[in-house]
Amino acid sequence: MPLDYDPFDQAVRNDPLPVYKRLRDEAPAYYMEQYDSWALSRFQDIWDVCGTDALSNSKGAAPAQILTKDQPVVPMINVLDAPEHTKLRSAVRTLFLPRNMRAIEPEVRRIANDLLDQIDGRDEFDAIGDFAARLSVTVACMAIGLPIEDGPMLTDWVQRFFAHDPDSQGFAPEGSAALQELVDYCTEKIKERRRNPVESREALSAVATFEFDGRHYEDAEAGSHLSMLVIGGSETFPKVLASGLRRLWEHPDQRAALRADPSGVPDAFNEILRYDMPTQFLGRTITRDIEIHGQTMKKDQGLIFLYASANRDEREFENPDEFDVQRRPQRILSFGAGAHQCLGTHVARMEGKVCLEAILARFPDYELDLERATRFKTEFVQGFESLPFRPNTG
Ligand code: HEM
Repeated sequence: MPLDYDPFDQAVRNDPLPVYKRLRDEAPAYYMEQYDSWALSRFQDIWDVCGTDALSNSKGAAPAQILTKDQPVVPMINVLDAPEHTKLRSAVRTLFLPRNMRAIEPEVRRIANDLLDQIDGRDEFDAIGDFAARLSVTVACMAIGLPIEDGPMLTDWVQRFFAHDPDSQGFAPEGSAALQELVDYCTEKIKERRRNPVESREALSAVATFEFDGRHYEDAEAGSHLSMLVIGGSETFPKVLASGLRRLWEHPDQRAALRADPSGVPDAFNEILRYDMPTQFLGRTITRDIEIHGQTMKKDQGLIFLYASANRDEREFENPDEFDVQRRPQRILSFGAGAHQCLGTHVARMEGKVCLEAILARFPDYELDLERATRFKTEFVQGFESLPFRPNTG
């Protein structure tokens, strides 16, 4: 069968891994004529190209921004280029460093246990809606400086933003409306912080006071940048944790070993990130010609990085389709690479450690009901939207 890859194709959305393997083997630099864009699928290629300065994010990074070009580009940190990007990143980056995560870990553990206390005793709960999403939005609020009680409202906006029609491309109008509500909310918070400046180690203050080229951002612009932190901080982690609960449930021997020796949990979370990366791909615009595999990717063409494919590349990982919590890979691509690598890497790793430890300690023999789980199956995001979890504590 000829290789014909279109990320929006329904069969690809339903099961992308087989076509990723064919792309890696047969066409590692694949040209998508209909979008005048390229797809890279091998680990090393993505790693190398992410590290060049031949890319721009200013025309967007989301699939529909790069490919169909029918998605508006909202000013957020992920669509800035250097030098503004470098400066804004360094203004907020320090807030998310490992030492700061170690400092808030006990508080996050307390939050995780409080949430589990609330659901303990129930026959079943939703591992995402009742636990992981609530935890990640609470941690995001703490790090950003937003009221924790606003968490459910923020989760609702972020979920509506992502819940786009599985049959259409890009975000639905409903999603864009939810994003606008989130940006408006963040803009109000920026205005408040500017009216009442406080010395704090919170992203809200860092963005409110940020200055580039001698100018502060307009309120709405700063609110938009802050929204990206809310989205990044609350959206992806629950899907990763839910996939991890699924894989550990499918491999009870590995689950039991982790329960017996929780020191393996950080590596297990790394394997979960590698195995089931929710974000299928992100894109860039090429700013100068790049030669790769005998082909030229030209200036102004689009380029997508198939991260979820790279994480299953047999050139990088031995038996990549095997889930193995003992694996110790040197690197994975679940947080991207290069200038736009995820700012929340250490937040996510700390959350993963805390949540897995708490769940395994309390519900070591949990059961899942995959039949009733609901899933995202879009060109952009794969993974659980809800996951019925039975504590099974007898
Ligand atoms: C398991 C959870 C997470 C995963 C898998 C994840 C993954 C990613 C990926 C793949 C990117 C894009 C890299 C690229 O453009 O190539 C990214 C960017 C980003 N993430 Fe995360 N993320 C997670 C959690 C978080 C958290 C907790 C935060 C915030 C506290 C966050 C904030 C961001 C931001 C702000 C960016 C844009 C960075 C930039 O453009 O400079 N993420 N993330």
